[in-house]
Amino acid sequence: MHSTLLDGVIPETCVSAAVAAPSIHNTQPWRFRLDAESSTFQVRAAPERGLRHTDPAGRALHLSVGACLLNLRVAIAHSGWSPVRRLLPAPEDPGLLAVVRLAGSAARPTEHRADLYEAIWRRHSSRLPFSGRPLPPYLRNELREAARLEGARLWFPDPIETARLLHLTAEAERRNRIDTDRASESNRWVHRDLEPNPDVGLPQAVLGPQDASEHLPLRDFTAQRHTERLVVRLFEAAPVIAVLITEHDRRADWLRAGQALQHVWLLATAHGLRASLLHQALEWPDLRRSLSPTPGRTGHAQMLIRLGYGPEGAASPRRAPRAVLDEVLPSR
Ligand SMILES: Cc1cc2nc3c(=O)[nH]c(=O)nc-3n(C[C@H](O)[C@H](O)[C@H](O)COP(=O)(O)O)c2cc1C
Repeated sequence: MHSTLLDGVIPETCVSAAVAAPSIHNTQPWRFRLDAESSTFQVRAAPERGLRHTDPAGRALHLSVGACLLNLRVAIAHSGWSPVRRLLPAPEDPGLLAVVRLAGSAARPTEHRADLYEAIWRRHSSRLPFSGRPLPPYLRNELREAARLEGARLWFPDPIETARLLHLTAEAERRNRIDTDRASESNRWVHRDLEPNPDVGLPQAVLGPQDASEHLPLRDFTAQRHTERLVVRLFEAAPVIAVLITEHDRRADWLRAGQALQHVWLLATAHGLRASLLHQALEWPDLRRSLSPTPGRTGHAQMLIRLGYGPEGAASPRRAPRAVLDEVLPSR
């Protein structure tokens, strides 16, 4: 027997799980509303938390909200309900990015593995060096399948292609350093955690080591190459990079890409893998075009995911569920 939606801790637990998702610069650009009458969560954009310079079209915002939507679905399923989602359900209300209705559990088979719920709490970006241990082929296939279930494609390029993609990322990283608007935008979010309210911003963990050779150009959130953070030959020599691709490049595709990113990341976590993201080249239109699959293949690159075995990343702060749950509309 299900409790009614407003009983107990279901809304708060689900929103806690949703906000544990990754977001660009940890901006957490989402808000929620709950309509008890229709047992529906509304997932809304928080445009005031968008990145005007880094993400003018809001593509990365949609990816972030998509990731949060996947967590919400996993948490709803964990509570014993079936999550039935609709993306962009109201053209006249563009800030409403998705609705998720809680249907009876018998209505649908589970859409994902049950252990993804535990992975929500264990998943953190790990920007530390990984070992050279390769990913077994069966795992690559499972990760590809997770992306496919969400309407995206996961592509593991060969080493030569990987080196080309990382070269484009290094170029984006250089541009980000000299673009004062983007550099100060990134810095503002990095330093949010020094504000009196500690539950926003990025942890000191983002200020970890950087590859001096730029062979693996992790994002420098301070947009400065601090010499004391530069290390030589510590990062994996043959990085495993997966490219997330969607067929089209509309708002709904960005939301699908975000769900696919998070489904892949949670599954990777359940298998003991670590990940961090390399999104820099996606923020420059010419570089993004060069990232897209080689001629003859269709699609739009949405994310570069670095995968491997290595140390766990540190948890970063989140806004409290109550701060992002706008209103609970009571049952009438
Ligand atoms: C659209 C998007 C772009 C991101 N870009 C990067 C990136 O380029 N480099 C990076 O290290 N992390 C990137 N991240 C990860 C966020 O910085 C990270 O999710 C956030 O700081 C919260 O930390 P957590 O992943 O450990 O929970 C990105 C996340 C999203 C959703």
